[in-house]
Amino acid sequence: MLDSEPAQADPQSEARELLERALDLEYRFIFHYPRLSRLMPSPALAQRVQVLGQDSVRHAEVVTRLVAALGGRAIVPTVDPLPAPLDLKDLFCRQLEREKLGLYFHSTAANLASGELASHLRQIADQEQWHIRMTEEILAALDKPGSPHPE
Ligand SMILES: [Fe+2]
Repeated sequence: MLDSEPAQADPQSEARELLERALDLEYRFIFHYPRLSRLMPSPALAQRVQVLGQDSVRHAEVVTRLVAALGGRAIVPTVDPLPAPLDLKDLFCRQLEREKLGLYFHSTAANLASGELASHLRQIADQEQWHIRMTEEILAALDKPGSPHPE
């Protein structure tokens, strides 16, 4: 009977679902980068936050196109409010988790995809690896009282 056949995992649908989750993750924080950059204790840290924000916008654009190409739905952005009062260390600990989750979504989707789609996703996954290192550097700099300049 057709009704009792187990649903086959379709790699394209799985990849699309992962990318929809990646996009939701980006949108939840994407609007906060400009303000967060202004709140950083040094120009060097502010610049790192700007880079994270610019890449986030670029990733959201690329992933939106890829989701559409895979037949996915348009995402309605959800924005998470910034915590108040704002604790920068706590915020960047959460940022680190977001970057790691982003890496997981993009690299898992890349493994399910092929051709040009897979190569776009691997590029984004590489950039998420870099964001993880950059976020760890921001956290390390925030941990050094009195020496806000990491360079
Ligand atoms: Fe990122």
